[in-house]
Amino acid sequence: MLENIEEIMLTKYVWLLPMFASICLLYSHDYLNEINFDFMQKGLNFIDSIYSTLNRNSNSVSKPNTEPKIFTSNQLKKYTNVKDGLYISILGQVFDVTKGVKHYGPGATYHVFTGRDASLAFITGEFNDKGLTDDVSSLSVQQVKALYDWVEFYNENYIYKGKLSGRYYNEDGTPTEEFHKIQRTLIHAKKNQFEEEHRKRMFPPCNVEWKAESGTVIWCSKRSGGIEREWIGVPRMLFESPNSQQYRCACVKLDSKEYEETKGMIREYDGCPKTAIKCAVKINNL
Ligand code: HEM
Repeated sequence: MLENIEEIMLTKYVWLLPMFASICLLYSHDYLNEINFDFMQKGLNFIDSIYSTLNRNSNSVSKPNTEPKIFTSNQLKKYTNVKDGLYISILGQVFDVTKGVKHYGPGATYHVFTGRDASLAFITGEFNDKGLTDDVSSLSVQQVKALYDWVEFYNENYIYKGKLSGRYYNEDGTPTEEFHKIQRTLIHAKKNQFEEEHRKRMFPPCNVEWKAESGTVIWCSKRSGGIEREWIGVPRMLFESPNSQQYRCACVKLDSKEYEETKGMIREYDGCPKTAIKCAVKINNL
């Protein structure tokens, strides 16, 4: 029993390591100086929520009749009718969806999901033999995140019944390597989102106004782009990539690391003084 607890704790903290390493790396670059604590906290809460959502402990204390169960795929096959119950499995988590009989009952559109784990089809929408599989290795990071949103949906709206032994859980309910792979992908998705949000905070959109007499005016403020911050920044053309023609107006903090690192994609507006926070410009494409 003690061994089991140690194993569970170890599993939990070992997979947290990559996320902490990423955060330390970001911190070492002073990146986090611009990110408020609440944001970091949300990231860590997300990790905890993935862990507890996907890795419910079958040893946890629960009332005898509601104890989570480990299903074999043959046992799960039984739950495709209202009498026995309508059960679906997603990423190896089994849910009783009988109350959604209008969606999952015999003859309904999503009846194909019952009695099996067809995780892939939740993303591809391919409700045929090839698509109705639990193998999600073909999905992108973002798609795995979308699939995880479905797991959360079922957790919030239906009854959790247990785990399906097979691809994601062993017969004793412990997670498989495939399960850990999904967890790592979800951390990766969160890291991408974290970086993207950080980038948005560091290059917020400018305010823009057009008037017949003065033309287009762009300017930065501590709230431009709807992003509250301590600095104002100066308007610059921010290109999508070094060779791209597409750009948008971003407020840039000239003494930031991010500006230094992104310089190759940033240009000044013609006729706009280097440190002006407001300029009238000729613009074809904001
Ligand atoms: C990847 C493709 C899709 C998947 C996996 C999917 C899956 C589902 C599932 C599982 C439900 C039941 C949710 C519940 O338990 O409450 C649902 C409901 C529904 N879906 Fe889809 N769906 C897909 C695409 C679509 C599309 C393209 C449409 C519309 C053109 C659509 C329209 C609906 C509607 C109207 C409901 C019922 C909502 C309600 O009554 O609350 N779905 N879908």
